[in-house]
Amino acid sequence: MVNDMIKVMQAHASVRNFTIDKIPADTLKLIIDAGRAASTWKNFQSYSIINVHTAETKAKIFELQPQKSIKNAANFLVFVGDLNRAEKATKLHTDQFFPEGTENLLISSVDASLAAQNVLLAAESLGYGGVFVGLIREQAAELSAVLHLPDYTYPIFGLALGVPARQNDVKPRLPYEAVVFDERYQEQSEEVIKAYDQMQRVFAGDRRLGSDWSERIAAQFGTPSQTATLANLQDKGLMK
Ligand SMILES: Cc1cc2nc3c(=O)[nH]c(=O)nc-3n(C[C@H](O)[C@H](O)[C@H](O)COP(=O)(O)O)c2cc1C
Repeated sequence: MVNDMIKVMQAHASVRNFTIDKIPADTLKLIIDAGRAASTWKNFQSYSIINVHTAETKAKIFELQPQKSIKNAANFLVFVGDLNRAEKATKLHTDQFFPEGTENLLISSVDASLAAQNVLLAAESLGYGGVFVGLIREQAAELSAVLHLPDYTYPIFGLALGVPARQNDVKPRLPYEAVVFDERYQEQSEEVIKAYDQMQRVFAGDRRLGSDWSERIAAQFGTPSQTATLANLQDKGLMK
């Protein structure tokens, strides 16, 4: 029962190297509109997308977060969690406005993520490629200034899009049984983690990053969480 859509989804591999080719404006609009068709919490559509395409702005963002995909992308789409429009809608009816808190943060970041994944799939279905760049959150405040993000908005990630310079191999995921459970949760053994480390080692071969999958997880979760995100959310009125 594999159809063309499932084939596109199964062929996904992040692309970080692009040719100099552009994505025609009408094609990009088609791709983004396909993304915007994603489900959204109560139809609130609590996100905005900043299409960065000039060399000047791409260079400014690259300076903050030096990943080559930002500079080389035809378009660097910054997905922004957005309760700024919600403020305006709320003010039509009441002077009270409470945008802060984790639930509201989840509403906007889940909405943005669903749309963004749809955008990437639509792009891939047309032969383009891309990669999410979440590390821009390390420079959330500086990026917000570059993009003129107002109160009640925050950058979630960028999506670098363009024509792939080469097609990458599909990265193996954890085994189905380690992620998908029948009826109830199944805690996983260390053996499952070690086996996946080994699977990733074999997959990466010469391209190995120098650390194992579990070591990269330890680097993330074995140290206190990044403070740039929280500080920026507080500055934008989204967290106390
Ligand atoms: C929210 C999010 C943020 C990401 N941020 C980065 C990033 O900053 N830099 C990068 O090179 N890849 C980034 N990635 C890409 C992941 O590393 C990649 O999706 C993962 O290794 C799986 O590889 P694949 O997409 O090729 O299957 C990000 C992915 C997601 C979903």
